[in-house]
Amino acid sequence: MIGLVGVAWEGSGLQIMRPIVFKIVTAALAGSALAAVAAHAENPAVRNCTWCHGVSAHGYSPAPGLAGQQYQYLANQLADFHTHSRDNPFSKQYMWNAAENLSASSARDLAMYFSKLPSKPANDGDAELERGAI
Ligand code: HEC
Repeated sequence: MIGLVGVAWEGSGLQIMRPIVFKIVTAALAGSALAAVAAHAENPAVRNCTWCHGVSAHGYSPAPGLAGQQYQYLANQLADFHTHSRDNPFSKQYMWNAAENLSASSARDLAMYFSKLPSKPANDGDAELERGAI
């Protein structure tokens, strides 16, 4: 799964992500990615993100939830922050710096990690709908 698509830019940073890559690849092969990545929530590279995006990556305003979003979407956004083509005020204020030193491979790893986390329904929705009762 890793490396099929995603971002590509020069430069590197966050070599710290290497152990995560290895574990995620291993876990994906073993078919139990969720359990394995969960163990990495305390990794400093992940905490750099969950500091703003919430401990479980479910979002903490104004940072949106990352957990369970599509891998490709997350990877694209990180590439766009890195190249500054996503340039909303909040993007400039928060994400340009956060994506500045991410290597392409670190961005892919983080996108993969967050895409595998369980998402959480918004708590302002219809509870019946959420339970699938409608
Ligand atoms: C200082 C706070 C902060 C940090 C640190 C931070 N983010 Fe963000 N992030 C934000 C905010 C705020 C937004 C919303 C930007 C906007 O509205 O354009 C955002 C948006 C995003 C988005 C787009 C989500 C969407 O639904 O469009 C992604 C992907 C993302 N961040 C990933 C990360 C990753 C990966 C890291 C760690 C490397 C990280 N962020 C670190 C605050 C932060």
